[in-house]
Amino acid sequence: MSLNISGPLSAEQQELFTKLTGSLNKEQLAWISGYLAGFTAQKTEVKEEVPIEGVKTISNQKSLTILYGSRTGNGEGLAKKAKAIAIENGFEVKLKSMGSYKIRDLQTEKNLMVIVSTHGEGVPPFSARELHDFIYSKRAPRLDDVNFAVLALGDSSYFQFCKTGKDFDEQLEVLGAKRLVPRLACDVEYEQPAGDWLKATIQTFGGDATKINKAAPQFRIDLAAQGAVKELQNSASKKHPFMAPVFEKITLHGKGTKRQTLHIELNTEGAAGLEYEPGDAAGIIPVNPPELINEVLTITGLSADIEVDIKGQKSSLYEALYRDVELSKITVDVVNRYLAFAPNDKLQEVTQHPEKFKEYLEGRDIVDLFQDYPAKVSAEDLIKLLRPLQPRYYSISSSPKANPGELHLTVGVVNYENAGRNKRGTCSTFLSEVAVENEQVPVFIESNPAFRLPENDETPIIMVGAGTGIAPFRAFVQHRELSEKAGKSWLFFGNRNFETEFLYQTEWQGFIKSGALTRMDVAFSRDNDKKEYVQHRLLENAPELFKWLEDGAHVYICGDMKKMAGDVQHALVKIVSEQGLLSKESAQEYVDNLQKDRRLQLDVY
Ligand SMILES: Cc1cc2nc3c(=O)[nH]c(=O)nc-3n(C[C@H](O)[C@H](O)[C@H](O)COP(=O)(O)OP(=O)(O)OC[C@H]3O[C@@H](n4cnc5c(N)ncnc54)[C@H](O)[C@@H]3O)c2cc1C
Ligand SMILES: Cc1cc2nc3c(=O)[nH]c(=O)nc-3n(C[C@H](O)[C@H](O)[C@H](O)COP(=O)(O)O)c2cc1C
Repeated sequence: MSLNISGPLSAEQQELFTKLTGSLNKEQLAWISGYLAGFTAQKTEVKEEVPIEGVKTISNQKSLTILYGSRTGNGEGLAKKAKAIAIENGFEVKLKSMGSYKIRDLQTEKNLMVIVSTHGEGVPPFSARELHDFIYSKRAPRLDDVNFAVLALGDSSYFQFCKTGKDFDEQLEVLGAKRLVPRLACDVEYEQPAGDWLKATIQTFGGDATKINKAAPQFRIDLAAQGAVKELQNSASKKHPFMAPVFEKITLHGKGTKRQTLHIELNTEGAAGLEYEPGDAAGIIPVNPPELINEVLTITGLSADIEVDIKGQKSSLYEALYRDVELSKITVDVVNRYLAFAPNDKLQEVTQHPEKFKEYLEGRDIVDLFQDYPAKVSAEDLIKLLRPLQPRYYSISSSPKANPGELHLTVGVVNYENAGRNKRGTCSTFLSEVAVENEQVPVFIESNPAFRLPENDETPIIMVGAGTGIAPFRAFVQHRELSEKAGKSWLFFGNRNFETEFLYQTEWQGFIKSGALTRMDVAFSRDNDKKEYVQHRLLENAPELFKWLEDGAHVYICGDMKKMAGDVQHALVKIVSEQGLLSKESAQEYVDNLQKDRRLQLDVY
């Protein structure tokens, strides 16, 4: 089919348009036309007003500023959805990441919606840090003319649940801003409550019904904003993961260690939505191990084939325990629900003391809870008190350029003793037991734009990783090996033992030989009496490392969040202070600026 179109398109655009529309079937054409209608509505409504000198611009349109602070994209997705809803409701919308927002504009806002997640152990995502610090600083202005509402994203398995959203909510009020709607704190299943809150909140900000764009039916914008566009295209997503066959599963440890790290290769050939870049993570949706399910059935005395309701669907209890709920760890919310079903003074007492509570939760699972504080629950109640089973994320350890149609993972298998029982991590166990060739792994991509190779291949890179933190660096080095003019690269790697835990040792040797990797320094903490970690190697190489920084190197840190990431950043400050002859404060500012300029990037967990 060929269409003759005239209009504002250039000859080249016209050719592209004809080519695209000619290849589509009726259904695809209908979908595209709806999508474009929504897209046009968004583009036209957010046009900036250009003031003409001497003429006061009069706008009777309501304005809404949506600020988001997001690390893994959930908040960003919701912010885009909020924008679409607000435009539908006749608002003039300014949508900004907190990281690119001019802080001094805060005072001039009329209607402000804040969408922010919490990361680390109760800290703001990097893009939100400056604004967060600012509102708590002495320089923070009064915000008496600002109306606001806060949507907080988090995960109630963390003690500091939605801490950053709570901070913003409380501090904006302290500064005089008027809270229009109570804060919503969202847990991992945030889509539905957040969607409802956004619609209600935008109404409260006061949409102008006359501005509703009739050309773009709301459901189309909603679909696009919710990422349903992806689903319509049959793309892999968290809701509809791709079932990837396993190509290869190799143990990366030598003999003589109880610990296990696996290299797993997935076949993603031809899968839509599994395109990724070095630095991205893969989401894997696991199932629970049968041994743990049987322990749960034994301790509760419930029968495997009792019928239960899961999100409106009937299922056997066994099936629900296998696929739908978390069994391997218990969190604050689970224990609180347990107490509501089965009041128990002793357990109540534990939950009253945060430190005791934290200590109790560490390494305990649902079987421990029933064992320690026995209770009789029905199958329905058991399912209600457990959390929905969540995907786990793994930094992708392959470059798509070097391994088209493949996706590699580097998985540390979680296996430990606690409270008298052997415990195994749900997802790492699932991956360790998956059979090569015969079985498939449900996978989707979690893009991580905050962990990217420099745009210019010639820029030097310094990579610091401990344990499985090595994973994205394998992707980085594979990727740069294929570049004609890749700059210098320096890898710092740490683990316990040289003999047994030097992950991908022969590959690194190969990269050094080929020139893809310029230098590698390693630290093995259990080889000697003296515990040595990656930060010690950085400090030993301070003059050279500082020279690399001064030459514009980008620095990447990946792996343990609790200890390693902080220790490495302290080492960087020390190096900059000593080598750059700067005070500790100035050196800290130097390192902070590296992070602001995206020359220091972290992927820690
Ligand atoms: C962005 C990102 C990237 C990641 N990349 C990687 C990666 O490349 N490779 C990788 O292996 N992992 C990676 N992880 C971690 C990974 O997502 C999982 O958390 C990990 O595999 C454990 O999941 P699991 O289901 O096996 O264990 P779970 O069933 O989730 O159990 C883990 C729980 O066990 C507890 N636990 C573990 N060890 C002990 C112990 N010794 N004593 C007491 N309690 C203990 C901890 O409290 C933890 O909450 C990444 C995480 C994120 C967020
Ligand atoms: C490494 C890591 C640390 C986290 N720490 C917290 C936390 O301390 N408190 C909390 O409520 N949520 C925490 N979360 C959960 C996130 O806030 C939650 O996944 C949120 O939906 C992410 O939104 P974003 O993608 O917009 O950043 C953490 C998530 C990750 C991956």
